[in-house]
Amino acid sequence: MSGTTRGRLLATSDIHVRHPENRAVVEAMRPGHDDDWLLVVGDVGELLDDVEWALRLLAGRFAKVVWVPGNHELWSLSRDAVDLRGEARYRHLVDLCAGLGVLTPEDPYPLWTGQGGPVRIVPMFLLYDYTFRPAGTSTKEEALAAAYAAGVVCSDESVLHPDPYPSRDAWCRARVAITQARLDECPRDVPLVLVNHFPLVREPTRILRYPVFAQWCGTELTADWHTRYNVAAVVYGHLHIPRTTVHDGVRFEEVSVGYPREWRSWRTRRPVLRQILPAPTGEPVPPWGAPHDESEHAALQVPPGAPGGPVPAAPAVRSSQSQSQPYRQGAV
Ligand SMILES: [Fe+2]
Ligand SMILES: [Fe+2]
Repeated sequence: MSGTTRGRLLATSDIHVRHPENRAVVEAMRPGHDDDWLLVVGDVGELLDDVEWALRLLAGRFAKVVWVPGNHELWSLSRDAVDLRGEARYRHLVDLCAGLGVLTPEDPYPLWTGQGGPVRIVPMFLLYDYTFRPAGTSTKEEALAAAYAAGVVCSDESVLHPDPYPSRDAWCRARVAITQARLDECPRDVPLVLVNHFPLVREPTRILRYPVFAQWCGTELTADWHTRYNVAAVVYGHLHIPRTTVHDGVRFEEVSVGYPREWRSWRTRRPVLRQILPAPTGEPVPPWGAPHDESEHAALQVPPGAPGGPVPAAPAVRSSQSQSQPYRQGAV
């Protein structure tokens, strides 16, 4: 299948531009071709001014930018320019994007006709519902109790408000239902690229250093979406473990940049713009290479309660069908 333009479909996530070093990374992001599109897969930042700065910059450079929210954009912080919570904050972000010409999960799904196309790009906002539970627990309450007992609790618990939904998991279930209805209406003859901040399957979370954190990383409700629909690739972030895995024959791309303390620890600096289409050839490799010094492991530890949440570094494993590689994981 070949597209009608020479453009590539690129992706990045978790650029966390409150960090000056990450701003510099974003300022260096440029398309390789006038027709390149960019998927921005959440966690641009916490403050609206930061989100607008990054999306305005990128929208001015790429032929099209598609954004989905991460958990950080949904935080309600007292120092932000607006005082909005939950759905109202999300809708404000969607309006901000509309003003910048950036597509969101609320737009009709755009057709990619560049290299590797045609495919339908599906930006999604699904959140999480505490169903990626730790071993030995069978309810949300038990999962949360295990997290508090371990001292590993996502900052979302205090700053990501679900209003008007009664809970974040209720908001998640509503978003899943809305999105599934739209997916069911997509013609099957054009493959889909599913784009969501959180992984659609649990497997990528198996290498979290603190497995108890997985409950803030997705929902079991999407476990079969990559096989139920005609899916060319799934693009996600949030874990700060950039890599490529394959699940049931479908390519999953974790495209996060992560925090400076994380990407500084990788031995090899590689492009932060990940190519989704045309599908890269050859053995997938992590964009930042392998960690070069285990002593930096400690630098990735984020105290529970610190901004960004406490999800620290992980040993290295790879859940795809290929060989193990050294990876580590940081806060999300
Ligand atoms: Fe995130
Ligand atoms: Fe993140």
